[in-house]
Amino acid sequence: MTIKQSIREIQETFDINAIYARRVFSLADKTKLIEDSGRIIGEKPKPFVKWVGGKRQLLKQFRLMNLYPPEKFDSTKGRYFEPFVGGGAVFFDLLPEKAFLSDLNLELVTTYNVIKDDVEKLIKLLKKHDHNKEYFLNVRAKKVEKLSPLQVASRFIYLNRACFNGMYRVNSKGEFNVPFGDNKKPLICDEVNLRKISKALKNVEIKHQDYKQVLKKARKGDFIYFDPPYHPVSKTSTFTSYTANGFSEKDQIELRDVFLELSNRGCFVMLSNSNAPLIIEIYSEIKKDGIRISKVEAGRAINSKGSGRGKVIEVLVTNY
Ligand SMILES: C[S@@+](CC[C@H](N)C(=O)[O-])C[C@H]1O[C@@H](n2cnc3c(N)ncnc32)[C@H](O)[C@@H]1O
Repeated sequence: MTIKQSIREIQETFDINAIYARRVFSLADKTKLIEDSGRIIGEKPKPFVKWVGGKRQLLKQFRLMNLYPPEKFDSTKGRYFEPFVGGGAVFFDLLPEKAFLSDLNLELVTTYNVIKDDVEKLIKLLKKHDHNKEYFLNVRAKKVEKLSPLQVASRFIYLNRACFNGMYRVNSKGEFNVPFGDNKKPLICDEVNLRKISKALKNVEIKHQDYKQVLKKARKGDFIYFDPPYHPVSKTSTFTSYTANGFSEKDQIELRDVFLELSNRGCFVMLSNSNAPLIIEIYSEIKKDGIRISKVEAGRAINSKGSGRGKVIEVLVTNY
């Protein structure tokens, strides 16, 4: 069997994407390939935070549509970039060898880096958390600027696990403002998973920066996935803020221009967004440059009361 055939066999047996299948192949004992691949896949880390807009449930659909990952992307040469990483559902699905992750949310990026570099100390600290409403409110009220990176990470994970619906949202001052949750026994310290993540992040660079910085590093053959804050479908739809600044119409247009520039450079580019008229309009303008717009149906909870649950159409833009 050739290497290509072996990778395909792993991919089909375990119903996983091609990039991750290649990684599994490189790690597995070739004398018992399928058995050992199963063991490696069983050890795969999961995202450590629940993030509004998380992509986990959509990935299989993207794959079935043959849009993800890009078929011609060679993960042994090209690098993976995720400049709006959030909870990192796509990164954790692909687990590429070489990756550059970034986000404008400083506490989130600090947490990724603490997990990467200092996981044992973090686990110790997480185990010390109490769980009741008064304690939660005290932790939430702490001034993040006064905390060490380790304390920031411990607070971030605790709040995400203990808050209502486990979601992340900040007010206009950038302060976390989700109320106390109703789960009596949330799993605050998933130490096994945190250690797996720490290992998986070893060759990964995680930076606090604006998405445009990707233009400085990306080159031909790299794969860039953009998952920006979604443009609201209507003026009344709930808006969830991840950072104090939000993401305006002008930001969406600038992002479209960055998308096109990377595409012209020879990168593989993929972007998700809402099915808002603005998004369709601005990406339709670059269809002549070989850009495709595909629609996907997502079952998604869009607000905390649950009244916004149901099927929503989302857009996937690709240059391949
Ligand atoms: C839709 S979420 C990403 C969700 C993620 N794909 C997941 O699976 O969890 C958008 C992310 O963009 C970040 N963000 C907002 N404006 C940004 C900017 N100008 N540059 C980089 N990141 C930004 C937010 O902090 C948030 O984490």
